[in-house]
Amino acid sequence: MESSSALGGRAATPSSPLRCAVLISGSGSGMEALVRSQQANNLAHQTVVVLSNKPNVEGLKRAARLQIPTVVVEQSTSQGPLSREEHEFEIMKHLEAHDVEFVVLAGYMRLMSPTILERWGGRMVNIHPSLLPHFPGAHAHRDVLKAQPSMSGCTIHLVDEGMDTGSVLAQASVPLFKDDGEGELSDRVKIEEHRLYPEVLTWIAEGRVHLTKHGLEVDAREDRLVC
Ligand code: GRF
Repeated sequence: MESSSALGGRAATPSSPLRCAVLISGSGSGMEALVRSQQANNLAHQTVVVLSNKPNVEGLKRAARLQIPTVVVEQSTSQGPLSREEHEFEIMKHLEAHDVEFVVLAGYMRLMSPTILERWGGRMVNIHPSLLPHFPGAHAHRDVLKAQPSMSGCTIHLVDEGMDTGSVLAQASVPLFKDDGEGELSDRVKIEEHRLYPEVLTWIAEGRVHLTKHGLEVDAREDRLVC
């Protein structure tokens, strides 16, 4: 039988959910939607800590209101800036302290280096607000509006060292309208983001996503990979 490993490492259940950390850098609306879905629907995944690289961001307040523990790991300390490796080692300490099994990036605005990927690669996903491989990077909506494709959307992908380059797990599309600005497009894409992330994390938590020598394979059952 071909060797493969489930992304979440096991088949989690609502009574023994996959312990996730959500990493944010800002508003945290995706994190809030995910936690609300977990809390309302008894899912096989649970957010056990929200970690931000920026202090005082809205996402930290949202997490506190949802009674999720929060941690801030800034890129500088009173002794000066941390190297990327030092910063990632700090993050990993907190992941271990909270017995985290899986890492969910939701608006976390930093690339990951081999330091953290050596330990967490294959157990870390990101959501990006475009239909990758089109429009990677920090200004996806602006770039989409400039290019005017007929649709945009969001992509959930494994995290690697590149900028939004990891293997794609799922995508959802939205129409683009002539008079869209960044705000309108972002709001429309976020509706899909907030629906898709809990669903894809359920596939992962239930042990339905495998990394094989051919790449990602999803036992999607009745689900569609592209919605
Ligand atoms: C989302 O659009 C996500 O796709 C991107 O950053 C945005 C974060 O928004 N990576 P929020 O912080 O969840 O409100």
